[in-house]
Amino acid sequence: MSRQLFPPSVNYLARWILFLIFSGITTATVIFYYGYRSDWWQGQQMAPDQPILFSHHHHVTELKIDCRFCHSTVDQSSFAGMPATSTCLTCHSGVFTDSPMLAAAVQSEQTGTPLKWNRVYDLADYVYFDHSVHVSNGIGCTSCHGDIGNQRLTRKAQQTYMSWCLDCHRDPAQYIREPKDIYSPSAPARSNLTENRKVELLHQFRIGGQHLTDCTTCHR
Ligand code: HEC
Ligand code: HEC
Ligand code: HEC
Ligand code: HEC
Ligand code: HEC
Repeated sequence: MSRQLFPPSVNYLARWILFLIFSGITTATVIFYYGYRSDWWQGQQMAPDQPILFSHHHHVTELKIDCRFCHSTVDQSSFAGMPATSTCLTCHSGVFTDSPMLAAAVQSEQTGTPLKWNRVYDLADYVYFDHSVHVSNGIGCTSCHGDIGNQRLTRKAQQTYMSWCLDCHRDPAQYIREPKDIYSPSAPARSNLTENRKVELLHQFRIGGQHLTDCTTCHR
């Protein structure tokens, strides 16, 4: 006489457990996939903590200070450059300021320790990026950094996924702009020029045929 090791009801239970495990894995995968790529997870719209609550809105839109006054190597090198404390203190004199909002700058000047700004945009080390090649060739700040002129605290306006770089590298015409608008803090991210003008600018900047989508362009 064959005896069942477990009663039939266990079989039923086991199927339920399997079902729950399977649907749990599926749910976790879906949450992970969409959650990980979501704006919330990637920190979009969230400004990192900073030693001073610096406002681009105030400095570039209201006071109309040019980007290059503070990011002085953006048109010359791969790195945009971050302002030295002394750059801030040309206007916010270290000796006379008593604003608590600027206390960290005064302390930085007195101790000779640079301000430590936390990064908003930060590519992985295996990606090569160069500012000057973009801003000298008709691609403006707001196409990549959003409407920085409206930001009171700097936050990520654009996820720096590979697909985003490639979207533009495949068809830069959709973003090309007039040279006078490169540093505009409020120009639209996408080009609003006529098709003819886009073609003229692509020609002027000699864009096209540089293998912009080759892996080795960005992974060297
Ligand atoms: C008066 C100085 C000043 C000017 C002018 C200025 N910035 Fe900045 N910028 C800063 C400081 C300070 C930070 C670091 C604090 C922060 O992230 O807000 C910064 C940070 C940034 C960042 C984020 C960098 C990172 O951490 O990844 C971007 C992007 C940026 N600036 C773009 C611009 C653009 C575009 C302009 C011109 C439209 C501009 N800035 C003009 C001082 C300035
Ligand atoms: C070209 C002049 C200029 C430069 C350079 C400049 N600022 Fe300002 N900033 C101003 C003016 C003008 C105001 C508004 C007047 C004020 O509140 O003192 C201001 C306001 C501020 C405020 C608000 C102060 C308060 O008490 O409400 C902060 C914070 C600030 N700036 C930080 C910085 C930092 C950090 C830098 C360097 C990265 C910098 N600024 C560079 C001109 C400048
Ligand atoms: C084609 C897209 C693109 C354009 C155009 C662009 N940036 Fe950036 N910017 C980036 C990326 C990507 C990073 C992150 C770089 C990294 O992590 O190596 C960055 C980083 C920065 C930083 C942090 C310091 C650094 O160099 O890593 C500053 C400041 C900055 N950008 C300012 C500017 C200003 C000012 C302009 C316009 C004159 C500008 N950017 C135009 C994509 C762009
Ligand atoms: C809005 C459009 C745009 C975006 C976004 C963009 N690029 Fe570019 N990039 C260009 C254009 C246009 C050129 C060609 C410039 C020229 O004429 O040399 C270029 C050139 C380059 C070059 C130099 C290629 C060479 O000639 O050696 C590198 C490297 C590069 N991009 C990396 C990146 C990376 C990495 C990203 C994403 C983080 C990115 N780019 C995002 C438009 C863009
Ligand atoms: C225009 C610039 C650019 C080109 C061209 C490019 N990549 Fe990327 N790649 C990136 C950026 C930006 C990232 C994301 C980096 C980060 O997350 O900080 C990336 C990430 C990656 C990753 C890591 C996984 C991921 O998707 O985040 C791999 C693998 C990769 N690239 C392979 C390639 C291969 C293979 C090619 C050629 C077919 C290529 N890339 C072409 C810019 C580029």
